[in-house]
Amino acid sequence: MSTILITGGHSGIGLAATRELAAKGIDIVLAGRSPERMQSVAEQLHAQWGVVVRTLALDTSSLASVRAAAARLRAMREDGGIDPLIAIVCNAGGRFDGAVSYSPDGYETTFATNCLGHFLLVELLLPSLAEGGRVVYTASGTHDPDSVDGKMVGAVVEPDALVLANIGKNSDKAKDSGKALSAGKRYSTSKLCTVMYAYELDRRLRRTGSSVVSIAYDPGSVPATGFLRGMPTPIRWFSATPLMKWVSKRIGVTTSDVEFSGASLAALATAPDYSEHSGEYFQANDGTLASTRSARLSYDKRRAAKLWDDSKQLVHLSATEEPAQLK
Ligand SMILES: NC(=O)c1ccc[n+]([C@@H]2O[C@H](COP(=O)([O-])OP(=O)(O)OC[C@H]3O[C@@H](n4cnc5c(N)ncnc54)[C@H](OP(=O)(O)O)[C@@H]3O)[C@@H](O)[C@H]2O)c1
Repeated sequence: MSTILITGGHSGIGLAATRELAAKGIDIVLAGRSPERMQSVAEQLHAQWGVVVRTLALDTSSLASVRAAAARLRAMREDGGIDPLIAIVCNAGGRFDGAVSYSPDGYETTFATNCLGHFLLVELLLPSLAEGGRVVYTASGTHDPDSVDGKMVGAVVEPDALVLANIGKNSDKAKDSGKALSAGKRYSTSKLCTVMYAYELDRRLRRTGSSVVSIAYDPGSVPATGFLRGMPTPIRWFSATPLMKWVSKRIGVTTSDVEFSGASLAALATAPDYSEHSGEYFQANDGTLASTRSARLSYDKRRAAKLWDDSKQLVHLSATEEPAQLK
């Protein structure tokens, strides 16, 4: 038997992926910050498919929570509570509208939640992955400023971890036309960083001869999830209408539905078809899942290496925490 750890697997695209995985007989660790909702999903999946579903308290915006979750996961493995991990699916995330806010560690919430938490989780749990295991990152087409998605949400800024973590504090570099960076730009830039983490992880794994696979994924625009929860109700309602989907397709937005995007995420984490696609970016668009080009900037190796090293510094990664596959 095998197990997959997924963050944010109790709702939206993550839940659709989790259902697909459970239907294939794969055990699951649901990692997130909503214990009751995770428990309810765990019971449903176990009742329907007979799989083992464990829950793991994890707030990706808190470094202490990530470290505690990684320690509990390792303990679950050691006491035989779960089978070897065949994938880590970094799916939790969101856009955080309103004034800039900060994580318990004092980092800007979007960057802390979408980027640093998963960065640290992967560093800590890489040794728990089975041979040929996979790390799949849910990114977003908004990371590409040349795409319609990117233009609508807000063009990315420089993927500089030290600046992004401190947006709105005292860095002029993190300002956009004299104003604090918009929520949309904070989000799209966090997803550019996510794609760059996936590519940089692949490069580092290849250097050490690891068999682990690293993939970035854009699930497409899927309005019927909790993603727009920070938006006013009329916008949330309108964005989920067939008319909005029709308009989105007409203007070139990547569109999908929650079942297809979830099933695609599950496939990237498990299907043999994707085992040779480490370092690639996949996109779900109108019922098709395909490897495609990501934003030009995402292929910048120098920026990605700096992003990685700065992220290590921001999460205070110690030498003993860094896995041999990444040294
Ligand atoms: N929907 C779209 O159009 C779209 C498009 C491109 C990319 N994406 C990406 O797809 C992923 C899933 O989003 P979704 O659309 O399925 O929305 P969703 O239903 O809101 O799911 C987001 C998940 O992330 C979890 N999460 C948020 N902050 C967290 C934190 N600090 N710690 C742990 N978990 C946290 C949420 O948990 P709680 O329930 O506890 O809040 C929830 O389970 C996200 O990474 C999103 O950026 C979505």
